[in-house]
Amino acid sequence: MSWLVTGGAGYIGAHVVRAMTEGGERVVVYDDLSTGSADRVPADVPLVVGSVLDAALLEQTIRDHAVTGVVHIAGKKQVGESVERPLHYYRENVTGLQTLLEAMTATGVTRIVFSSSAAVYGMPDVDVVTEDTPCVPMSPYGETKLAGEWLIGAAARAHGIRAASLRYFNVAGASAPELADSGAFNLIPMVFERLEAGEAPRIFGDDYATPDGTCVRDYIHVQDIASAHLAAARRLSEAPEGTALTLNIGRGEGSSVRQMVDRILKVTENEHMTPEVTARRPGDPARVVASADRIREELGWVARHDLDEMIESAWQGWRHHHA
Ligand SMILES: NC(=O)c1ccc[n+]([C@@H]2O[C@H](COP(=O)([O-])OP(=O)(O)OC[C@H]3O[C@@H](n4cnc5c(N)ncnc54)[C@H](O)[C@@H]3O)[C@@H](O)[C@H]2O)c1
Repeated sequence: MSWLVTGGAGYIGAHVVRAMTEGGERVVVYDDLSTGSADRVPADVPLVVGSVLDAALLEQTIRDHAVTGVVHIAGKKQVGESVERPLHYYRENVTGLQTLLEAMTATGVTRIVFSSSAAVYGMPDVDVVTEDTPCVPMSPYGETKLAGEWLIGAAARAHGIRAASLRYFNVAGASAPELADSGAFNLIPMVFERLEAGEAPRIFGDDYATPDGTCVRDYIHVQDIASAHLAAARRLSEAPEGTALTLNIGRGEGSSVRQMVDRILKVTENEHMTPEVTARRPGDPARVVASADRIREELGWVARHDLDEMIESAWQGWRHHHA
């Protein structure tokens, strides 16, 4: 198989590209470099610079590289920005996917692995989130991911496409410092940012109905996310037409914000600092922890990396990007 990896110059995409090439798959990266960087693409992997909104370039690339499957990772991912710019998010994430599916059907490509998100669930009122937990996204970002899953499901039924929508939980860590996420949109880099400024980390609310009162999340190492893509791609290579899988990617283990902050303070040798507790942020669910049963049953995949590996590698990456 030969795979087109959209968004392969981004944080998660760069890890997926490495897992797939190391697994013996042929890969071509397609990325508009809006948030990604060409440096993240290995020298022996072709990079086509273009947008998933460009139908002609997509079809050309698929033909030029004899592509037989797509891993669609490209997308805009900031929840807050999606509230301010919903039309932009719908265009990039939904129209972009629609354009890609049109290019696939025009060229006879029938396999797609899609980057979805736990944001599709919104504020789930359950201890463990299964793929059957109702989806009630709380932001335009989450809506675009759910709409993407629907679009893929309809195309699978109508056009014989084989698909896997992967709902990532809280992604963290890096396989090498230069591949780390350079933004600060999640807890771990937000804490690093405060520490670097000499400020105590912030905890938004400690009055949730959780064991220590702070929000609980399921953190997953980006290398585990990457290995799940390779497993999904291999599964789709063999799958019958119309197969449409929806799978959580998490560890199935909850960690509270306070536990995470304490571990980050330890790893960064800032144990003398005391976190500052402030008011809740609007829209933060108390607990979002994945059931990882279905992906284990369907793909035989399990997460292999623990919290310390995530925090330590994220810290090396942070220092690399911000030194
Ligand atoms: N990072 C997370 O915690 C997380 C969690 C759940 C889901 N996701 C999803 O995973 C995907 C990758 O996230 P990431 O963290 O690697 O983000 P990222 O911003 O590092 O990567 C996105 C990549 O897509 C490219 N891109 C964006 N718009 C494009 C377009 N129109 N055409 C072609 N390329 C385009 C960017 O240049 C970048 O290389 C996104 O779809 C995101 O929604 C991420």
